[in-house]
Parts: sequence; C-alpha cells; structure tokens
Amino acid sequence: MSFKHLALLALSPLALGSISVIDPSDYADLSADAKDNTILADYTTDNGGPMYLSADIAGRYSYSDTDVEYDHTTLSVNANDTSVLVITEGSTANLSYVTIVKEGYTTWLNQASFFGVNAAVNVANASTASIDHTNITVHNGAANVFAYGTGTTVYVSDTDLYSSGPVSHGLYAAGNATIHASSVRAYSGGNRCSSFSGDTPAGYIHVSDSIAHTAGIGSAIFYALGEVYGTNVVGVAKQAPVLFSDGAQEAYFENVDLTAGLLAGTVMFSSAERQTGAVLSFTNSRLTTSTEDMPALWFGNVIAQASLVATELNTSSGVLLVANSSQVTQAFDHFAGVEENSSIKPAQVTVSVAESDLVGDIVAYNGSSIVWNLTEHSSWTGSAYTAGTGSASFTVSLDDTSVWTLTSDVTVDDFTNGDTKNKNIRSKGHSIHYSKSAAGNAWLKSRTISLPGGGKLKPRA
Ligand SMILES: *[C@@H]1O[C@H](CO)[C@@H](O)[C@H](O)[C@H]1NC(C)=O
Ligand SMILES: *[C@@H]1O[C@H](CO)[C@@H](O)[C@H](O)[C@H]1NC(C)=O
Ligand SMILES: *[C@@H]1O[C@H](CO)[C@@H](O)[C@H](O)[C@H]1NC(C)=O
Ligand SMILES: *[C@@H]1O[C@H](CO)[C@@H](O)[C@H](O)[C@H]1NC(C)=O
Ligand SMILES: *[C@@H]1O[C@H](CO)[C@@H](O)[C@H](O)[C@H]1NC(C)=O
Ligand SMILES: *[C@@H]1O[C@H](CO)[C@@H](O)[C@H](O)[C@H]1NC(C)=O
Ligand SMILES: *[C@@H]1O[C@H](CO)[C@@H](O)[C@H](O)[C@H]1NC(C)=O
Ligand SMILES: *[C@@H]1O[C@H](CO)[C@@H](O)[C@H](O)[C@H]1NC(C)=O
Ligand SMILES: *[C@@H]1O[C@H](CO)[C@@H](O)[C@H](O)[C@H]1NC(C)=O
Ligand SMILES: *[C@@H]1O[C@H](CO)[C@@H](O)[C@H](O)[C@H]1NC(C)=O
Repeated sequence: MSFKHLALLALSPLALGSISVIDPSDYADLSADAKDNTILADYTTDNGGPMYLSADIAGRYSYSDTDVEYDHTTLSVNANDTSVLVITEGSTANLSYVTIVKEGYTTWLNQASFFGVNAAVNVANASTASIDHTNITVHNGAANVFAYGTGTTVYVSDTDLYSSGPVSHGLYAAGNATIHASSVRAYSGGNRCSSFSGDTPAGYIHVSDSIAHTAGIGSAIFYALGEVYGTNVVGVAKQAPVLFSDGAQEAYFENVDLTAGLLAGTVMFSSAERQTGAVLSFTNSRLTTSTEDMPALWFGNVIAQASLVATELNTSSGVLLVANSSQVTQAFDHFAGVEENSSIKPAQVTVSVAESDLVGDIVAYNGSSIVWNLTEHSSWTGSAYTAGTGSASFTVSLDDTSVWTLTSDVTVDDFTNGDTKNKNIRSKGHSIHYSKSAAGNAWLKSRTISLPGGGKLKPRA
C-alpha cells in the first residue's frame, strides 16, 4: 500500500505531481498482524494500571551508566513487559545496522505511556542513543523507541519503524526527553499508535525527511504533548487526524504533505481543564482531509494560535476551520461536548494567514470565537458562520494585499481592512454585517458601504 497521488514536497517545491512513497507496510506481512491490530487500547479498565512506575523497567539487554555499541546484528525478545534494549542512567548507546524485533504484551498501559515499559528500545534518565540504518519491528503493542527523562536525547536516522498492536507509537518521548529523527519510515497498524508522539509531562520530537503511515483509530502522524516539529514529512493517517494536540502544546510544520482520514486534519483540544497557549504552524505545506465531514483545522476546549504560511488546505467538506465547545474523547473516534462532560468550554482561536490561497468556510459553535487575519497576498473564498446552538464571534481582518471573495452573507464582530476602500472584497452580491459596537469597527462609523460586486458592508444592532 504505497501512497499514491502525493506530492513529495521534500524533493523540491516544484515537484508537484504523482509519485509513490514506500513505507514499511509495503514489505511487512500485514495479514499476519491483522489480529494484533484488532486489540483495543483500554485505559479505563484495569489495563490502565498505576500512573507511577511499579517496577524497574525490564529489558533483555539492559545498560546502566555504561557505553554500548551494536552493529550488524539482530536483537530480539518475546516476553510481556520487557524491552529488547534498556539504555539508562547516563548511558551512551550507538546502534548501527541493527535489526530489533520485539514481541510480547503490555500489562499496564499507563506505564507503557509514561515510562516506556515494554518499548522495543527504552532510553532513559539522561542517556543518549544514536540509532542508524536500523529496522525496529514490534508486535503485540509497544513503542518502537521510547525516550524518557530530562537530559535524554535520541538520534534516529535511516531507520524503519514497524508496529502492530495497540499503543505502538513509532518515536515516543516523555518526561522532558528529546528525539531527533531524519530519514525515518514509520508504519503502525494498531489503534492509538501515533508515529511521532510526546507524553506527559512533555516530550520534544523533531522529525525531518521522513514518511509516516498509520492505519488505526487514534493513530495520528504527530501527537503533541510538549513540542513537535516536522520538516519534509509525508504522512497519511487513515483513521485519524494528522495531529492531536492535548493542552498548551506546540506543533510546527514546514514542507509537509499530510493527509488525515478521521475527525479533522488537525485536532487541538484539552483533555483536562481548558488550556491556553496551544500553537500550530504550517509553512509551505499541504494538509488534506479525505472525507466530506472533516474540517482541515479543529479546535475545542482550548485557546490556541495558528499560523498558515504558503499553505494549502484541501478539504472535501469545504470547511477550513471549526472552533467548537467540544473535545475529542479518549476513544478518539468522535467529538463530545457538554452532553458527555459539563466542564467542556468553547474554543478561542486566532489564525494568521499569509501567502496562502484558501477556499472554504470558518465555523464557530456555541460560544467559540475565531480571529481570522489574512495578510501578505493571501486570498480567501468562503464564509464565516455559526453552527449548533448559542452565539459565536468572528473577527476578520485583511491587509491591502489580500482578497476576500464572499460565498454568502456573513455576520462578523470586528472587521478591519488594510484597503480602506474595500476594493479587495469580491462580494458577489453578498453582504458583510458588522457590529456597530465593536471597537475595531470605529473606522466604519456605523456607515453602510457598497462593496465591489453588489453587496454591502453594513452595521447590525
Ligand atoms: C529512571 O529514573 C526513575 C527515577 O529515579 C526510576 O524510577 C526509573 O526506574 C528509571 N528508569 C530506568 C529505565 O532506569
Ligand atoms: C558513539 O558514536 C559517537 C560518535 O560517532 C562516538 O563519539 C562515541 O564514542 C560512540 N560511543 C560508543 C559507546 O561506541
Ligand atoms: C502475556 O500477555 C498476554 C496478553 O495479556 C497474556 O495472554 C499472556 O498470558 C501473558 N504471558 C505471560 C507469560 O504472562
Ligand atoms: C521534567 O521537567 C520538570 C521541570 O523542569 C521537572 O520538574 C521534572 O522532574 C522533569 N521530569 C523528568 C522525568 O525528568
Ligand atoms: C528493513 O527491512 C526491510 C525488509 O527486509 C527492508 O526492505 C528495509 O530496507 C529495511 N530497512 C532498513 C532501514 O534497513
Ligand atoms: C470532564 O472535563 C473536565 C474539563 O475538561 C476534565 O477535567 C474531566 O476529566 C472530564 N471528565 C471526564 C469524565 O472525562
Ligand atoms: C485534494 O485532495 C483530493 C483527495 O481528497 C485529491 O484527489 C486532489 O487531487 C487534491 N487536490 C489538490 C489540489 O491537491
Ligand atoms: C461540535 O460539538 C458538538 C458538541 O460536542 C458535537 O456534537 C459536534 O459533533 C461537533 N461538531 C464539530 C464539527 O466539531
Ligand atoms: C453550549 O454551551 C452552553 C454553556 O457553555 C451549554 O450549557 C450548552 O449545553 C451548550 N450546547 C451544546 C449543544 O453544546
Ligand atoms: C494581522 O496580522 C498582521 C501581521 O502579522 C498584524 O500586524 C495585525 O495586527 C493582525 N491584525 C489583527 C486584527 O490581528
């Protein structure tokens, strides 16, 4: 299953076209792992287990305060809750041309998530590992590479990551650890197996020149808990957004071509109290959503800032952005709001668009707000509207190099335009209704103004 019809922006900004991209699902025996991939991660029952580490992390090959090197060899284990390699307490490891095979189940999912129990390679507690030209295969559910603890840094290059089973993230960092990866090809077949993922309290993931493909629900390309950086990454998440971000996390993408298959292109939320300070940035990139009910960008129960520079949002829904009084549940398969949890709050989103041509609507639900700022030769063809119940607010601004083509009448709170004569509006007969009382509208002096194309800019109560 190679990804067809994808432009590999990594090659050159001009290399738009149809090419095939190979990932480990193209050579692995997927049917042999079909059963593995039906195992659902269930944190809500006893499988979650304690949030603290209940026993030392077990590994077939364990190194503490030691320098270790492996090359041109195969290392494997078949045992529950047991890593192949544990590199810890200030160790340094170099793995080159190694084949690593990990089988065996995870008993406590929380311990796998927060500490890397059962990961194929666990690098912890101020250790450093350099992994190149290596093949890491996991069955039954386990991270390929887990990095944990302040001062832990893992470098991965020219490496393939394959996994089956639940909670099998490719590169997974928690406890302030950092992973730098380049030329990685990752595939996961299970649920809740994001390719490049952080976990509490924070993980820092930098990925460049890489390919990622996920098949399962809840398996995004990036999962931000901490910071994620993707440069020259091509990815397809068949049943997930390309990004989940939980809380005040930061996600930066440049030259990426990412396709999402469920919920939305990106999903930024807070699983606990609403957090302020989530950041999302796309530069020279393309984000595609593959079904008709998916917006490109989705925000709920969070206060966030987004930036789109020279970026294409390709949706079949015609919805560029949703800000909702909602969040994604831990099943990662639907959005749920107050009907499931009375503490969920609306989203407040500020989006800055530059050098981008966008077609589609921005939609706010039930108390949410969207600030939508078009700058530097951007164009927007679309509308802003409120959906669901309750009111919502929109602030739209354009600089004098940007163009807005209306597709229906819109109601906004603040409206500011760098072109004070509004020549950069293509109204197509539609009108913009602005709030008389909003501070940003003082320049309009409560006037009704004709717009190019027959529509009007007019005050509302
Ligand atoms: C890392 O340090 C913590 C705290 O001392 C300890 O509980 C844990 O077992 C260590 N992890 C590894 C893999 O050695
Ligand atoms: C690992 O590789 C680095 C850089 O090539 C080298 O400096 C270091 O000595 C190696 N460590 C071991 C344990 O082989
Ligand atoms: C390993 O875990 C699996 C799945 O939970 C279980 O069926 C099996 O009995 C466990 N094996 C051992 C040796 O505990
Ligand atoms: C992560 O960093 C925080 C803040 O510096 C620190 O309190 C915490 O102990 C660190 N956690 C680990 C596992 O190193
Ligand atoms: C991993 O193994 C597969 C199957 O043998 C091979 O096609 C691929 O090139 C290997 N990847 C690396 C990085 O060695
Ligand atoms: C309900 O939402 C609040 C705030 O978002 C969160 O802290 C709490 O854990 C949620 N409860 C459940 C059962 O999900
Ligand atoms: C948009 O995505 C669809 C698939 O959903 C694809 O067929 C189409 O070529 C894409 N268009 C552009 C301009 O990328
Ligand atoms: C908006 O939130 C409501 C309430 O949670 C939910 O039912 C609906 O599916 C959400 N829609 C979108 C597009 O986010
Ligand atoms: C909208 O939000 C209000 C207050 O936050 C809440 O009471 C109401 O149930 C929400 N409605 C929907 C459909 O989410
Ligand atoms: C829009 O963005 C420009 C450039 O970043 C900034 O100067 C301006 O203040 C923004 N306008 C609004 C209304 O946020």
